[in-house]
Amino acid sequence: MKVLGIESSCDETAAAVVCDSPNTEGCILSNVINSQIQLHAKYGGVVPEFAARSHAKVIDNVINEALLRANCSLDDVDVIAATASPGLIGGLLVGTVCAKTISALTNKPYMAINHLEGHLLTCRLCYNVDFPFLALLTSGGHFFFIEVLGIGEYKILGKTLDDAAGECFDKVAKMLGFEYPGGVAIQKHAQFGSQNRFQFPIPLQRRPGCDVSFSGLKTAVKNLISSMDNLSYQDKCDIAASFQKTVVRFIIKQLGKALRMSSHHPKTLVVTGGVAANSELRDALSSLSAQQNLNFCAPPLSLCTDNAAMIAWVAIEHLSSGSRLLKSRMSFNSL
Ligand code: KG4
Ligand code: ZN
Repeated sequence: MKVLGIESSCDETAAAVVCDSPNTEGCILSNVINSQIQLHAKYGGVVPEFAARSHAKVIDNVINEALLRANCSLDDVDVIAATASPGLIGGLLVGTVCAKTISALTNKPYMAINHLEGHLLTCRLCYNVDFPFLALLTSGGHFFFIEVLGIGEYKILGKTLDDAAGECFDKVAKMLGFEYPGGVAIQKHAQFGSQNRFQFPIPLQRRPGCDVSFSGLKTAVKNLISSMDNLSYQDKCDIAASFQKTVVRFIIKQLGKALRMSSHHPKTLVVTGGVAANSELRDALSSLSAQQNLNFCAPPLSLCTDNAAMIAWVAIEHLSSGSRLLKSRMSFNSL
């Protein structure tokens, strides 16, 4: 089986052709990404109107390129799968209407895919990861601790009460005058800074459960910056390093609670979403997994950030597990 995947929920227009040989990156026949990073860089965040227009402009070329690199045509594709939610509506409309049009013209089935499910199942596209596993999904727009019990069986243990971690990285980077996307910039400049120069408060100290919150931390950084005159480059690096350390410590603390709350004895800890690219976070997760006797799985960075291979893969997982095409997938819609 070959699936054409389409992703356009945020600032990446992506298409991929994936086949169903399981648990190997070899089943990704092509994975094309047209990033809008340059378009949004001067605004320090994604501008939805510009994002939608850019998706509409390039999506046909991106799909053609994905077919070309996979050495196949639409005749060889069995299913067309596109991200249908969550995301920015302009981009979702471009991707889903395009996928439905291809479906109507070729008489091949269309599958609406949940973007978060794409991030969650990426580990199984790359590695032999069995259920149940515990996933930390941390991206620009989302933050969840989720027990993944099977295909379509997702138990949310904790989530953000306000901003996502990636959004917080992006906003702090903007305050410091660093380039976009902020997470990459914070990590880059933090390596020249002191982690211990500034103490930021760890959020939600007394709250039970494993939810997270990043808006207070963002405000703490803002207040610190306002209280300092003329930040030097070293000041900025020190703030970046101290902020990054606090985010990582906070995530690890809440993740420890999530593991204690999980009732299904996950064997593996999985990290996914754009913030999974952060090496300090990866190192801390890897140590925590070793302490807790868990396998640790972090997909390659190129598959942690938004891509269409993960969207095609969700279709394959559902079809392989016996889901009927176009079946309502309410179980995940609560996300
Ligand atoms: O998953 P993703 O590509 O898009 C969403 O679905 O949101 O994640 C993008 C987010 C951005 O907020 C970006 O700043 C963050 O991931 N990010 C990082 C790093 N690389 C990307 N955050 C922290 N450290 C990084 N190295
Ligand atoms: Zn994403």
